[in-house]
Amino acid sequence: MPTYELPDLPYEYGALEPHYSARQVELHHDKHHAAYVKGANDALASFDVFRQQGASDSEQLRGLERALAFNVSGHLLHSLFWPSMRPDGGGEPDGELKAAIVEAFGSVDTLKKQLGLATTTLFGSGWGALVWEPMAGKVMVQQIYDHQANMSPANLPLLVIDGWEHAYYLQYENRKDEWINAFWNIVNWERVAARFDHARSSLSSSLLAMA
Ligand SMILES: [Fe+2]
Repeated sequence: MPTYELPDLPYEYGALEPHYSARQVELHHDKHHAAYVKGANDALASFDVFRQQGASDSEQLRGLERALAFNVSGHLLHSLFWPSMRPDGGGEPDGELKAAIVEAFGSVDTLKKQLGLATTTLFGSGWGALVWEPMAGKVMVQQIYDHQANMSPANLPLLVIDGWEHAYYLQYENRKDEWINAFWNIVNWERVAARFDHARSSLSSSLLAMA
């Protein structure tokens, strides 16, 4: 049994229409996300071979480390991405999540603007993310390159927007702004709030308190 497995979508392919088309969701999940799962499992298998061969080839080790980080992070971010959306989503967060967003950004609209800008202005491929930063005890926006670069190790992603071309090009072509605007109509704030509650009491916060 492989270590990493592709999670089922939490809805039908067409459930996010018209904001996210059935064919775009199908390709993105069944082909692209699946490829990161396969890549992560392949990297683990290659590490077994590397060790069997004496664990001494530094060039091979560097390549495997890159492949593992890239594919595991890709799998994680996509696994967070699908439940970040839902049919009849959108609206605004409330409760403690909204209070934390207002404290950090001034307003929910400003968060949307900053997170949208972080996603559309990536050089190359990457993600925009709202994260919990446990040292400051605040929510922040991160611009993640590829799947794993420009990301602080302790940060926990609460909401992720896929800015890779494969995420939107079939439906929106080069109109990335339209994809980001559409995302806000299907965002699942309830799931983000649940992650926020979990993040604040997480192991990484506890470990930092003991550092
Ligand atoms: Fe993607």
